[in-house]
Amino acid sequence: MSKREKLLEQLEAKFSATGQDLDTHLEGLLAANYITYWDYIKTDALLSLQQQRTSYPDEMVFIMYHQVNELLFKMMLWEIEQVSKNQNLTVDFFAEKLYRVSRYVDVLASSFEVMGDGMSMDQYQKFRHTLTPASGFQSAQYRKIEFASTELINLIDNRYRATIDRNTPYSHAFEHLYWQAAGKDFVTGKKNMLLTNFEDKYRKDFLRFMKEYNETNLWSKFKSLPEDTRSDVKLLNAMRHYDHTMNVRWVMAHYTAAGKYLAKPDGTVEEATGGSDWRKYMLPKYQKRIFFPELWSQDELDNWGIDNLESYTKL
Ligand code: HEM
Repeated sequence: MSKREKLLEQLEAKFSATGQDLDTHLEGLLAANYITYWDYIKTDALLSLQQQRTSYPDEMVFIMYHQVNELLFKMMLWEIEQVSKNQNLTVDFFAEKLYRVSRYVDVLASSFEVMGDGMSMDQYQKFRHTLTPASGFQSAQYRKIEFASTELINLIDNRYRATIDRNTPYSHAFEHLYWQAAGKDFVTGKKNMLLTNFEDKYRKDFLRFMKEYNETNLWSKFKSLPEDTRSDVKLLNAMRHYDHTMNVRWVMAHYTAAGKYLAKPDGTVEEATGGSDWRKYMLPKYQKRIFFPELWSQDELDNWGIDNLESYTKL
């Protein structure tokens, strides 16, 4: 049987299995247009998503770089989800996906100068006022990456960790997530608009997502691998690399950019569009947000975000 005959036989089997007529589908093939790059990648739709609120050209840099970040966040979540849903996880599959996630976050951390060095200060100072009270803080995918990467306890505000355990309701844990500190007065419980707008939009989705990843996040999945494979140095280094790049390198690149654009000539800083006490809030040494704390020594944990050395990612 020739290759073509074999293909026709397979097509016949495929379509008849669902009560479809092969001839009709072949006619459709005859009539159909060729696929093009722009139809497949949806370039027209993609390139129509950059809408400025002002006429300052550098606002476009700001919008597009945020969008690039969101696309890479989506790529990270895509890989993590495959690990999370895998019922027969092998160390090879886990490592392959983890390396991908690590490479994506490397792109984010090493490209931040696009933002940090890429906008005119004057223009930024003008268009930023049209963005209040919004902030990158309200990126839902960024939060989902966190929920999908580690156990909830590691995302709880450092000050309240001891009061939260596995039996704590999700809604209570949610109120004590580290990022609540950007907009919540923990004494009165009052939240600023940055936070209330964010929660009105995503709280329900976050609670569902927290449950979904409670036992299927990267850290829980890593712990489910056979013990001898978990001590593989290459894998451990990849875990540490991801943790450090996401929670120190990216955060510090972001913090440095914020420091530059929000600095006032008198040495003080502007209030952020989101309104947080950002100089304190954003620093890793205060947040102590660490996805895989068990993979770091006590000394490394104590110095988290203080010593920004790359060598920290190597065992
Ligand atoms: C010049 C550019 C930027 C400045 C000045 C800046 C400033 C800030 C500030 C001050 C905050 C604290 C919350 C607030 O009060 O607004 C924040 C949070 C945040 N921003 Fe940016 N940002 C910039 C670029 C970006 C980019 C490109 C992204 C990528 C999506 C991003 C994502 C985030 C995220 C995820 C948070 C929350 C971080 C956390 O909770 O620890 N930012 N930003």
